[in-house]
Amino acid sequence: MSSYTYVDHAYDVVVVGAGGAGLRATLGMAEQGLRTACVTKVFPTRSHTVAAQGGIAASLRNMGPDSWQWHMYDTIKGSDWLGDNDAIEYMVREAPKAVYELEHYGVPFSRTEEGKIYQRPFGGHMQNYGAGPPVQRTCAAADRTGHAILHTLYGQSVKHNAEFFIEYFATDLLMTEDGRCVGVTAWRLDDGTIHRFRAKLVVLATGGYGRAYFSATSAHTCTGDGGGMVARAGLPLQDMEFVQFHPTGIYGAGCLITEGARGEGGYLVNSEGERFMERYAPSAKDLASRDVVSRCMTIEIREGRGVGPKKDHIFLHLDHLPPDVLHERLPGISESAKIFAGVDLTKEPIPVLPTVHYNMGGVPTNYWGEALNPTAENPDAVVPGLMAVGEAGCASVHGGNRLGSNSLIDLVVFGRAASIRAKEVVDAAAPVPSLPQASAEQAMERFDRMRHAKGHAPTAELRLKMQKAMQEDAAVFRLEESLQSGCRRISEIWKEKADIGVTDRSLIWNSDLMESLEFENLMANAITTVYGAEARKESRGAHAREDYTERDDANWRKHTVSRLSEDGQVDLSYRPVHADPLSDEIDLAKIAPKPRVY
Ligand code: FUM
Repeated sequence: MSSYTYVDHAYDVVVVGAGGAGLRATLGMAEQGLRTACVTKVFPTRSHTVAAQGGIAASLRNMGPDSWQWHMYDTIKGSDWLGDNDAIEYMVREAPKAVYELEHYGVPFSRTEEGKIYQRPFGGHMQNYGAGPPVQRTCAAADRTGHAILHTLYGQSVKHNAEFFIEYFATDLLMTEDGRCVGVTAWRLDDGTIHRFRAKLVVLATGGYGRAYFSATSAHTCTGDGGGMVARAGLPLQDMEFVQFHPTGIYGAGCLITEGARGEGGYLVNSEGERFMERYAPSAKDLASRDVVSRCMTIEIREGRGVGPKKDHIFLHLDHLPPDVLHERLPGISESAKIFAGVDLTKEPIPVLPTVHYNMGGVPTNYWGEALNPTAENPDAVVPGLMAVGEAGCASVHGGNRLGSNSLIDLVVFGRAASIRAKEVVDAAAPVPSLPQASAEQAMERFDRMRHAKGHAPTAELRLKMQKAMQEDAAVFRLEESLQSGCRRISEIWKEKADIGVTDRSLIWNSDLMESLEFENLMANAITTVYGAEARKESRGAHAREDYTERDDANWRKHTVSRLSEDGQVDLSYRPVHADPLSDEIDLAKIAPKPRVY
């Protein structure tokens, strides 16, 4: 192995990732005086949360009636009864507090005439336990809500003396022989030094793995790094088969057009000029939940009612809305539509197509963000020293399908919860654990192997193969044949990884090496996704099987737990859903499973 320059650090807490969840956790830890480092591969305000547009859900009641119970019901129904009800109750009850905290930290929310936080309707959020009409629950800063939150949280974290390690790529967890997480290794991208962060607590906030697919609204940085690290540490991932397609990615480019566009009155039409959602979801129409709208669009296209010369997409109309509403409420997408679709949305419809947007699965956690390593005796066994929050984690509040604007609230509620829990589990006076030699060496051997990989397969080629296989075989609609083909193709690419070739051996700004390490992470996520999907013989949330069209609660209301071996074998087991809420303040009959119609 080559020799490397090491820099060692010791902290109470190391947070990996500086998106909404990472920054909220960092801020919460630092606020209470824990020595906190935030390690991030991009500058914090460039993290993918910056792209979150439409808003953050909380039952503030600023623009009409609402309650945390209604929000809880909508989230459970949205999850298709796969979410954990204790975690969901925690999130929806804490949501208003978390949003007011953001307001007080300085987030510039849009305002009502009276000066209250502006709230818009979003898909699947309804009044009266789903009976309707749509509720105005999504708090917005125009259509740049993530941008506003990220900048505010970064400023606050700096104010509270959190230390940032920016453009450091975390490569592996540091684990003791007895399964405790005691830090991470990271590669400093601008000078090639290797950093070993020892810590009493590691919080993974590394985001999703949208880039395992060919077309995604996710940034190119969304490579499932936390999932990759966890899988290599022999720990499980959960519910990976649940991948959300956002109905309105711009056709061709894949960039997001916020659901807020439909919240403000936009609607979808097919080639016959029909507002087809009225047929599929008579009550919620264009504001049905995302999995439902994405499937309806796909059916319209399959049945020959798509628009455009190839009849392969759908139109989203906003041209009937007053230009001043578009200017005030949706300035960001007005710009994206112009740049990426060449469309003036005051005059023409936007061409859109369902596009991969969010991963419901991730590192299993409880509602404090503590990572779990379920066993037969204890399905809720905690991994000491490790937490996961945000899209990297699976608490599980979104179950089989996430409602729009429940992601930003998940980030801040559980980022904050992690810091509340840290106060109890981290002893600031205790010494920081020492370096686990075996784990540190293993991490460096992998890094060095990749750096010197002399095979014949360029990373870009393998990555494209993976993205095509995922896009074609683990799509909006799924079938046994396609899923088996997906398993075969991804397993084949796993073997081909042995022949990967990295051409640049340097350690400074080596994007070839960086992308190869990211590709390894993507593959861990992709392979657990297709195998989990092939095994789940039912339709639930975003997992829509044409050969098992019904939800099967008797056999499948359970979380998939996948463990990955070094040679790419996926071992699947299952753990129960937490059906019990936290309190008796929600009517159990209301949240009992039933058919999911909008
Ligand atoms: O459509 C959107 O603005 C996306 C929001 C979300 O994914 O929560």
